[in-house]
Amino acid sequence: MARPFISSTSFTICISSLLLILFISSTAYGSELEKGKKRALFVFGDSTVDLGNNNYIETIPENRADYEPYGQNGFFGGPTGRFSDGRVIVDFIAEYAQLPVIPPFLKPSADYSNGVNFASGGAGILPETNHGLVIDLQTQLKSFEEVEKTLAEKFGKDETEELISAAVYFISTGSNDYMGGYLGNPTMQQLYQPQEFVGMVIGNLTQAIQVLYGKGARNFGFLSLSPLGCLPALRAANPRANEGGGCFDEASALAMAHNNALKTVLTNLEYILKGFKYCNSNFYDWLLDRIENPSKYGFKDGVNACCGTGPYNGILTCGGTKNITTYELCERGEDYVWWDSFHPTEGIHKQFAEALWSGTPPSVGPYSLQDLFFSQEKLTIADVVDDPEGRDFSHFQ
Ligand SMILES: *[C@@H]1O[C@H](CO)[C@@H](O)[C@H](O)[C@H]1NC(C)=O
Ligand SMILES: *[C@@H]1O[C@H](CO)[C@@H](O)[C@H](O)[C@H]1NC(C)=O
Repeated sequence: MARPFISSTSFTICISSLLLILFISSTAYGSELEKGKKRALFVFGDSTVDLGNNNYIETIPENRADYEPYGQNGFFGGPTGRFSDGRVIVDFIAEYAQLPVIPPFLKPSADYSNGVNFASGGAGILPETNHGLVIDLQTQLKSFEEVEKTLAEKFGKDETEELISAAVYFISTGSNDYMGGYLGNPTMQQLYQPQEFVGMVIGNLTQAIQVLYGKGARNFGFLSLSPLGCLPALRAANPRANEGGGCFDEASALAMAHNNALKTVLTNLEYILKGFKYCNSNFYDWLLDRIENPSKYGFKDGVNACCGTGPYNGILTCGGTKNITTYELCERGEDYVWWDSFHPTEGIHKQFAEALWSGTPPSVGPYSLQDLFFSQEKLTIADVVDDPEGRDFSHFQ
């Protein structure tokens, strides 16, 4: 009788050592935080998540929101610099994570111990985007280094390392690269084909993720791009508006290409970077559904902005601080998907925060934000398969 290729004993040993590896890797990253301690939240990006950094920089009124009627729903008692009628997505995420409101980095004497928000309205991924008028992503990453130093002085090196590896890093950026940076910039369009430009934007975003990973960041959340062509501003600017109106297709196509490329990059990073965990989802389809079917989700208008001028209120005049000093303001902001020509209302921010917080694959994943903040381990391939050559990928950049 032929001997079986693997004896049952060695098969058992194989299985148990595999289980041991699984066990070791599931505890290695799960034990990073003492009981009762909260994970911090660090935020990078643009006006979708700016909590008021631009209040402190020299810029144009289009890149600020520290005047009425921004913040008019009264949650914070008035305008704060948030590009919304009230709160934005990261305010809800902080609340669900049982954290206080996360301060903007530039707010004087801000307490950084629960995290910091570095985002800046108008900023992109490329340094060229709105250059000189915003805090670009590179600068946001440099500011993170300053925060690291401040935290190390306060808590010591070990505790700071623990805080940084346990924290969640939420990144929401890219729209400005495609709108002002590309579609609004004939020079860029001459230099790069759309797909080359997307590659460059994604390449720079990948580098930023790797820089954070190199500093010890492990848990990431992403707000992918919305159907950009359906923003009231882009509907109004659509060169083919009189062929039946509608969304500006080139802008939406760039957003979709970006989201697809981001999805691929994140899948690959999960293989390569040990302990890298993320939450991503398709904001494009999610928001398009609300734009097309507002009443299914508690809204009345998915097309027009509550605040602005001209077609769809798509001319950015909200607040009257810009060149055009008159503007329309709707009666009930909560009925609208769009607050101003570029930015959604608090209601949209809240619904999407809920989706990222407790959504499940395939629409949200591989982790939900709740998993990341409250550490529910799911092993990734990079956690269980050690590189045969023993290379250390943790400094991979
Ligand atoms: C990052 O963007 C710059 C333009 O600002 C570009 O020259 C460079 O190739 C990009 N990097 C990557 C890795 O794509
Ligand atoms: C607003 O007016 C200023 C000064 O006249 C001009 O430089 C700027 O380009 C204008 N901005 C817009 C968005 O039209």
